[in-house]
Amino acid sequence: MYQDKKVVFSGVQPSGVLTIGNYLGAIRNFADFSEEYHCYYCVVDEHAITVRQVPADLRRRTYETLALYIACGLDPEKNTLYVQSHVSAHAELGWILDCYTMFGELSRMTQFKDKSAKNADNINAGLFTYPALMAADILLYQTDLVPVGADQKQHLELTRDVAARFNQVYGDTFVVPDPYIPKTSAKIMSLADPTKKMSKSDENENAVVRILDPRDAIIRKFKRAVTDSGSEIKYAEGKDGIMNLMSIYSAFTGKTMDEIEREFDGKGYGDFKMAVGETCADALAPVQAEFARLMNDKAYLEDVMIKGAEAAARDAARTMSKVRRKIGFTDPRRK
Ligand code: TRP
Repeated sequence: MYQDKKVVFSGVQPSGVLTIGNYLGAIRNFADFSEEYHCYYCVVDEHAITVRQVPADLRRRTYETLALYIACGLDPEKNTLYVQSHVSAHAELGWILDCYTMFGELSRMTQFKDKSAKNADNINAGLFTYPALMAADILLYQTDLVPVGADQKQHLELTRDVAARFNQVYGDTFVVPDPYIPKTSAKIMSLADPTKKMSKSDENENAVVRILDPRDAIIRKFKRAVTDSGSEIKYAEGKDGIMNLMSIYSAFTGKTMDEIEREFDGKGYGDFKMAVGETCADALAPVQAEFARLMNDKAYLEDVMIKGAEAAARDAARTMSKVRRKIGFTDPRRK
């Protein structure tokens, strides 16, 4: 769509409070693309309502997620930052793509299986067709690259399949996007059970470190992190807890596993956990300060939302007009 630059798109749901897994695996990397790519970063509130939300909480978290984007280094002048429900083309293309996405494909999605197990009393149609809406988000902007955590890989593959299928039927319409999954820290595990992914909806608060947790809570959670009964800081089989802490430390410091092993040679788990906690708290402090400042400036956030939605709607309209024409929808106003 833009001859000069390739396109990046990603989205974060305004549900739950984001964890260091979301930070290290996705959001932290978003700013890396701002110079080289034309970037869209969306607060996907339409995805969030596939699980029942308290309206006031959804509203507040939508502002918070946008503030967090900016606090993590995304400059609204250099990136299109906006809220999904402010651009009606998402829902519109979402419906169209529902008709090009197969029941069987959606039935295989592991996130659907997980979420329907967790929300057995509300397995709604939106939860099932969620990946078609996600495909619409991405394909609307002729996206080349989608930075996401490892858990979204399956949704990305479905997006590629749907794009290719549509192109096959109607001729070139959508760019077929590639996922971008960072190697390090693609998967941060729970501090209470290091064989499970750290999840923002975990009921055990000690299992999860959140981007906005205060310093003392971060340090306390790392101190309590579950580890094995050994004493060496080593990246080795059977030491899931230590490996997870090493991955987190490595992600924040850029140090390799070898360097970390050397740094903590002869030291115990207690020293290591303290170092990870302090490093994490230090790294998040500037993000938290900027977040607090932005949350006090609602007018600014609203200005960003409005401008972002205008820009996104303009770009989305180009794809929509092409899609409508190809499908055979009438358009009497078009000359
Ligand atoms: N499904 C993603 C998640 O749960 C959020 C999302 C929605 C998304 N639309 C997207 C991510 C488009 C990347 C691109 O994390």
